[in-house]
Amino acid sequence: MSVDAARDRVLDHVLAHATADVSSIHGLSHWRRVERYGRLLAVREGCDPLTVVLFAYLHDFLRENDGSDPGHGPRAADCIERHWADVGAEVAADVLGELAFACRFHTSSNAPPSREVALCWDADRLDLPRVGTEPALEYFHTDAARAIVRSGEYRTLDSCLE
Ligand SMILES: [Fe+2]
Ligand SMILES: [Fe+2]
Repeated sequence: MSVDAARDRVLDHVLAHATADVSSIHGLSHWRRVERYGRLLAVREGCDPLTVVLFAYLHDFLRENDGSDPGHGPRAADCIERHWADVGAEVAADVLGELAFACRFHTSSNAPPSREVALCWDADRLDLPRVGTEPALEYFHTDAARAIVRSGEYRTLDSCLE
């Protein structure tokens, strides 16, 4: 199954079950920007984009509010680990493991165990300007993301993405 096909299956599932899709902060527009940033980082890092593309649509979809909701990452991870068959996207077990880890700890860890997870967290953080927060270099893990933060390129990219 291609990355786009898996993304489309995930998006269908997410839109049918999301509690956060209409949020202007943690909803669909954020997920699309995280996908774009993730694909860009994957190209620049020479990585397969599958994990970060699926992460984009899954990491915040079970948020219950736009404030403090520390359970939203673990809820998304539980969904991936227990109910993936309901999504209908064929994804290898090792990718699902990375995806669940990336979702579970995306707000509680700053120590990604792999480059795939690092890409996920960096793509999410590059979208911080949407809430008026400038990305801080020390919280990024990939050279590609650090270069984007250092150069201020995210400001240009952000205005191109919707
Ligand atoms: Fe989140
Ligand atoms: Fe997010």
